[in-house]
Amino acid sequence: MGLSTAYHLAKRKTKTLVLERFAFLNQTGSSAGVSRQFRIPYPESYMVKMVLEAVPFWHELQTHTSAQLLDTVGTLWFGDPKVKSSEGNIGEAEIALKANNVAFTTLDAKQIEQQYHFRNLPKNFTGLFQADGASIDLRATLETLLKCNQESSHVTLKENSPVTGITQSKKLFEVSTAHGTYVSEKLVLVPGPYVDEVTRFLKFGTDVIYWNMTSMYFKKKDPKIQYPTWFVFQNPAGPSGNEFYGFPEVPWDRPGYIRVAPDFVMKPLNDPAQRTSIPNQDEVRYTCDWVKDHMSGLDPNPYFESTCFVALSQDQNKELIIDFAPASVPNHKNVVIYATGWAGKFVPFLGKILSDLVLDGKTPYDISHFRLGNKIFTSIP
Ligand code: BEZ
Repeated sequence: MGLSTAYHLAKRKTKTLVLERFAFLNQTGSSAGVSRQFRIPYPESYMVKMVLEAVPFWHELQTHTSAQLLDTVGTLWFGDPKVKSSEGNIGEAEIALKANNVAFTTLDAKQIEQQYHFRNLPKNFTGLFQADGASIDLRATLETLLKCNQESSHVTLKENSPVTGITQSKKLFEVSTAHGTYVSEKLVLVPGPYVDEVTRFLKFGTDVIYWNMTSMYFKKKDPKIQYPTWFVFQNPAGPSGNEFYGFPEVPWDRPGYIRVAPDFVMKPLNDPAQRTSIPNQDEVRYTCDWVKDHMSGLDPNPYFESTCFVALSQDQNKELIIDFAPASVPNHKNVVIYATGWAGKFVPFLGKILSDLVLDGKTPYDISHFRLGNKIFTSIP
């Protein structure tokens, strides 16, 4: 998000410093791993609209690289039509897609099995297929943004530079790192899951939880089988969540294997320091069981496992936060914050929004659903 914001600020010839806590392209934050889902189905019409608004920004970023950023294989949403999850509900998504004139097809359990290689599905399952869904080459996306910023005379990039303090003197912010102190009139804060370690310097925190999300890679036994990007909605059968998602085989992410992951964690974390690169083995087991029972053409033993660390807001649909700092921060309209949520599909677009907010104090895009509101606390010692 920082690289994307810098890219858009540079287009407006704004002198920009990017401070990265780790190295660029690290595996330590919510950009870990190299694939993400681009999908248009959402249960909220405003989210569908937002993904559609993101499309031209993907096309523009694509002009800067020969790597294919989006591998368009479609999005398949299927499962129990009664289930409402953090990703929503199939019926609600159909209504939101129709409201935005987005084409999709509906399927019953038999058709999902015949057309998309899933098996043993409960008879009541329904599905929708939306053809514009894609697997995002996240590494190429970040590399492209990094390269554009490296080539820009407006942008300075500093890595291994965690912020150790922010103070204000009149209208200027002084941002300290171990390597130096920098002065700026405006700040964009996009620390990913480490959000509160930065906002605390401005004496507020966000009311978030942390998920250390598990992913697994399964070997394709049948090279001809290709899955779309997909998500299955089911009621929990026991102590775990019961929603899984997956990807097609893609050339940039362990060719010969496909990624399947649980969209739940057995135990949310309450501190980023608890993050580990070792997946929760119960989550691994539940996912392997689902793959064994319901997917064809795969060896159901995972060959690789990984984790990705994300901060999520506590509301039911785990909304994004895009806003100015709270009014308790002097000159708060000069501080813009993005935090929380699954926003890989919005990377090129959110940089535009954040750059609008910090330069103009407003954006033409509708961000009214992503306000900090009561998702903050200001009692920081
Ligand atoms: C998403 O597209 O936002 C998403 C997909 C799978 C898991 C979590 C989020």
